[in-house]
Amino acid sequence: SAQLNELAKAAGKLYFGTATDNGELNVTEYVQILSNTSEFGQLTPSNGMKWFAVEPELGVFNFSMGSVVADLATKNKQLLRCHNLVWHSQLAPWVDNNTWTKENLTAALIDHVTTEAKHWAGQCYAWDVVNEALNDDGTFRNDTFLNVLGPDYIKIAFKAAAAADPAAKLYYNDYNIESLSNKSTAARNNIVKFLQDAGIRIDGVGLQSHFTVGRSPTLDDQIANMKAFTDLGVDVAITELDVRLEEPENATNLAGQSEIYKNTTGACLQVERCVGITVWDFYDPNSWVPGVFTGFGSADLWFTNFTKHPAYYGIVDAL
Ligand code: XIL
Repeated sequence: SAQLNELAKAAGKLYFGTATDNGELNVTEYVQILSNTSEFGQLTPSNGMKWFAVEPELGVFNFSMGSVVADLATKNKQLLRCHNLVWHSQLAPWVDNNTWTKENLTAALIDHVTTEAKHWAGQCYAWDVVNEALNDDGTFRNDTFLNVLGPDYIKIAFKAAAAADPAAKLYYNDYNIESLSNKSTAARNNIVKFLQDAGIRIDGVGLQSHFTVGRSPTLDDQIANMKAFTDLGVDVAITELDVRLEEPENATNLAGQSEIYKNTTGACLQVERCVGITVWDFYDPNSWVPGVFTGFGSADLWFTNFTKHPAYYGIVDAL
């Protein structure tokens, strides 16, 4: 039967993809599914391109971790979403621990973005340039970049990324911006329009879409929200889709999960400028969820024994 990426492409999308991580690549059956381009036409490295891995000391760069997934995508002829250049979390400690002036943090930020984006230039379909810069109430998240540079750090990052990799689509990526809310309004006004008004390129907004059975935006909510973004002239993508449930799994919560995966996929299909869907890994043992949300799990599309969740078929239904 037809598989996720081939169905997504037949429906006019660029890809159906997944995140993956270096430590997951020694399980043969997992890698077979990961590398099957009928199933997945796009990869995102879950961790290897983050600041802590790439620039662990000021001016010291290490691309080895990120290159494992980047090179696998190239070998498999899969698109690569590169993730991410600037984020408050999984940052190298030296960024938070230094005493910065505006001048020297600007220089360090430009150097990080430029060196990293140039390294993978030509390989990235898209870059998540800035990740999670907003609080849920729509104010800017108070991190080292905001403290020292104010919101202009976002302009500095996008400008440097545009110069370093002219071919990559440049994205702002966040969670809780999947339905109309103060936070999604702020993403439109204070990130997308903020950059556009300054003449700085932004090509898309990544809707992470880390959802929970029992509380997630409806199909119509998601469509209206995507359209509010695309009305500004940018693409959207579902970048980190997973749907956690309260353990243990049963027929009821798995059916609820299937409905949510189906609605999110369906929303993307109904919005022309929603370019593709990425799940934040597809195999339950590789999910970040149980480690972060106590009592929750089974958020992905394949169970531990490699049988498929009902949600897999929910997605197929929507496609
Ligand atoms: C997660 C990874 O999956 C984990 O392995 C890591 O320990 C923490 O980060 N939003 C993001 C992703 O943008 O980078 C996060 O990935 C999940 C939430």
